Amino acid sequence: MSTIQIAIDGPAGAGKSTIAKLVAQLFDFTYIDTGAMYRAITLKAMQLNVELNDEDAFDFLDQTSFDYKDGVLFMDGNDVSKAIRSREVSNNVSLVSSHANVRKILVDRQRLIANDKSVVMDGRDIGYNVLPTADFKFYLTANVETRARRRFLENAQNGIHIPLEDLKREIIARDDFDSNRAITPLKPADDAIIIDTSDMPIEDVVKTIETKVREEV
Ligand code: DC
Repeated sequence: MSTIQIAIDGPAGAGKSTIAKLVAQLFDFTYIDTGAMYRAITLKAMQLNVELNDEDAFDFLDQTSFDYKDGVLFMDGNDVSKAIRSREVSNNVSLVSSHANVRKILVDRQRLIANDKSVVMDGRDIGYNVLPTADFKFYLTANVETRARRRFLENAQNGIHIPLEDLKREIIARDDFDSNRAITPLKPADDAIIIDTSDMPIEDVVKTIETKVREEV
């Protein structure tokens, strides 16, 4: 059987990772959270104390390994899934992910991972840049209040407490930066199906995607 690629893009807090994970489980595909890779690099850069503004400070990327096990990202052999969700990483990841050399290396790695297996990959530029020939492309969006509320609840589950209004401000700033950066900004592929998840329960979004995929495979 040939492999199938499902790309899911959208702004912060639109429900991408929760939904992508469930869709991957449904079809027994590999889930790849590309945002986690940008977050992991940001974490490593902060640990190494490098100047985050300086593209040239990211040459450590060549010696950095990534591995996904059951949807969890390991960097250099370590489970970084908790550490990459910190507020500090969240507030610096847009800057780090705007560097051309960082994007080039990570996009190459993402394509390599998706090369020989069926995947659900989520991010900001998957449908039009990382996997432009993906079989299915979805772009999830939601109003900023809903997205901030979702992040608030997700954070609370992980023991992170950030006031809702702060989260809202931080999400707006991050989306603005991600949408306006020079290289492969956040945007839907021309042929993506756009789903506004503001008033949709997660299971309805998953069902919408599942129905679309089953119609065609
Ligand atoms: O999905 P997330 O919030 O974990 O993503 C973290 C950041 O990584 C996001 O602000 C922008 C960047 N990112 C990107 O530029 N390209 C991707 N494919 C995925 C994430």
